[in-house]
Amino acid sequence: MAEQAVPTVAREWHLAARPQGWPTPADFALVEAPVRQPGPGQILVRNEYLSVDPYMRGRMNDVKSYVPPFALGEVMDGGAVGRVVASQAEGFAVGDAVLHGLGWREYATLDAGHAVKVDAEAAPLSYCLGVLGMPGLTAYAGLLAVADLKEGDRVFVSGAAGAVGSLVGQIARLKGASRVVGSAGSAEKVATLVDDYGFDAAFNYKDGPVREQLEKAAPEGIDVYFDNVGGEHLEAAIWALNVHGRAVLCGAIAQYNDTSAPAGPRNLALAIGKRLRLEGLLVRDHAELQPRFTAEVAGWLRDGSLHYDETVVDGVEHAADAFIGLLRGGNTGKMVVRLAP
Ligand SMILES: NC(=O)c1ccc[n+]([C@@H]2O[C@H](COP(=O)([O-])OP(=O)(O)OC[C@H]3O[C@@H](n4cnc5c(N)ncnc54)[C@H](OP(=O)(O)O)[C@@H]3O)[C@@H](O)[C@H]2O)c1
Repeated sequence: MAEQAVPTVAREWHLAARPQGWPTPADFALVEAPVRQPGPGQILVRNEYLSVDPYMRGRMNDVKSYVPPFALGEVMDGGAVGRVVASQAEGFAVGDAVLHGLGWREYATLDAGHAVKVDAEAAPLSYCLGVLGMPGLTAYAGLLAVADLKEGDRVFVSGAAGAVGSLVGQIARLKGASRVVGSAGSAEKVATLVDDYGFDAAFNYKDGPVREQLEKAAPEGIDVYFDNVGGEHLEAAIWALNVHGRAVLCGAIAQYNDTSAPAGPRNLALAIGKRLRLEGLLVRDHAELQPRFTAEVAGWLRDGSLHYDETVVDGVEHAADAFIGLLRGGNTGKMVVRLAP
């Protein structure tokens, strides 16, 4: 394919200020920057979908973590998928679809070694930011490798209508869980969990104490808790976990915007008598599961046994709103930003 005409400047999102508590639009700036032609071994990609993810909130703070913080006044990065529009790299041709880490911008110039080619015929391109990508592998690895899910387990997942949570509940069921319970933040999401994703029970955590609602939804307790939320949810799950129960600590979104240290869980000592295992999960530790994950999840998508939703926000100029919306629960399934075709 011939090289495509590319503009000399394009838009990218900078972190303008470090959010104090909840991020606001003023913390972000959409800036025009030159589009750099690829050097030897590099490709130029026109992004088609950008990912916004909860972990990015942590990167907006100036603290040491498992991913470095975003620099103030610089372009942010994150998952993105797009098409090669110019290539100086062997094995990458104009028109190839690629997944890479230079999101939050319209055009990305990068070493081809940092891009992965994806099959645009196999599934919609955006799926490699969600069900067939990082959030999908998080759900799969958390359940199978960390929780060591067993047939007959009773499973509870928080953030259950989101990208990771919606897959956790469904994969648990496909792998033989005997009861799947989820929590989410609206009546519509609760209905989606039961009607579309096949959860046995679900509740809106805003309707009352999580502990009480979980006891009603899982009267025989739970064996696995997949924690996307932390705080009150984790404490309630520790109450509900059965002897030898396992909790996968995947995320703590309830406290990402806190400005003071969170309380609890106050009942951690219960873990002794119940012989609980609470284990943190980082998806990047589980790359070895990728081939098995891709084959199995793609199969479930093809045969219709896995339901997948996306919330699509159109336009690079709305990426910061999409991110803030994600933190406020504006998404069902994976939140993605679609750039103008
Ligand atoms: N450890 C890892 O390797 C790894 C990898 C990927 C993701 N994660 C973590 O997994 C979790 C889910 O990520 P995701 O990408 O799938 O995001 P997501 O669930 O699609 O989106 C975030 C959701 O969090 C919910 N939420 C916001 N504030 C909340 C609160 N105070 N209490 C309860 N729920 C709240 C919102 O839904 P409601 O409307 O239901 O409130 C929102 O839709 C996050 O904590 C993320 O950091 C970890």
